[in-house]
Amino acid sequence: MRLVIAGGHGKIALLLERLLAGRGDQAVALIRNPAHVTDVQEAGAEAVVCDLEAASADDVAALLSGADAVAFAAGAGPGSGAPRKDSVDRAASVLMADAAERAGVRRFVQVSSMGAGQPPQPGSDEVWASYITAKTAAEADLRARDLDWTILRPGGLTDAPATGKIRIAPPPVPRGAVPRADVAAVIAALLDNPGTRHQTLELAGGDSPVAAAVHSIS
Ligand SMILES: NC(=O)c1ccc[n+]([C@@H]2O[C@H](COP(=O)([O-])OP(=O)(O)OC[C@H]3O[C@@H](n4cnc5c(N)ncnc54)[C@H](OP(=O)(O)O)[C@@H]3O)[C@@H](O)[C@H]2O)c1
Repeated sequence: MRLVIAGGHGKIALLLERLLAGRGDQAVALIRNPAHVTDVQEAGAEAVVCDLEAASADDVAALLSGADAVAFAAGAGPGSGAPRKDSVDRAASVLMADAAERAGVRRFVQVSSMGAGQPPQPGSDEVWASYITAKTAAEADLRARDLDWTILRPGGLTDAPATGKIRIAPPPVPRGAVPRADVAAVIAALLDNPGTRHQTLELAGGDSPVAAAVHSIS
């Protein structure tokens, strides 16, 4: 499988790239900073420099040629304000989905977030509200497309080692932390289970082995 990962130098993305390389799949990491090429290559992926806040859908579609799937794992990240929540968490996902349609790449796994899908709680922090609004809009855009999408909403991410055990289901799943390493394993499992298309799934730490949990909802 050839997977193109938007946000290819992100923490989840690098874990996913190692995992895919370890099982003989090919990952292409879209990164915006040329200084990140070596890290991505060390994770076993091919690096392509592409700023998703500057590229056109045609630019990205050309990069998707020959791909089997797209994973959207980009994010404006901590420390960013409302404008970049919109330009990355929403608009870069829309751009990737536009490009996937143009390139004929049907499978698309989007990393969203628990909390998306409903309006921010009244009184929420302004940046959190703009983040949730951006994720909700990105989800809605993807759902409206003729693509084999899966939306994955993890709870709070940690850098703890993989546990291999999760709870994954359509909403609502009680909010809980989940290691990024388990999120990466779930993305790989979603790609292995195309029957998970057209599902919105929430993810937290739990008791079920990843492969079995994902297979059971496909
Ligand atoms: N933190 C949480 O608890 C939590 C919970 C649920 C979901 N999530 C979501 O999970 C996803 C991945 O999380 P993570 O921790 O792996 O994120 P991360 O480490 O912050 O990685 C995000 C990546 O997106 C890249 N990016 C930003 N703007 C870009 C652009 N214009 N063009 C190309 N790439 C760009 C960043 O590149 P640079 O390195 O160049 O900045 C970074 O490598 C995010 O969408 C996040 O919102 C987070």
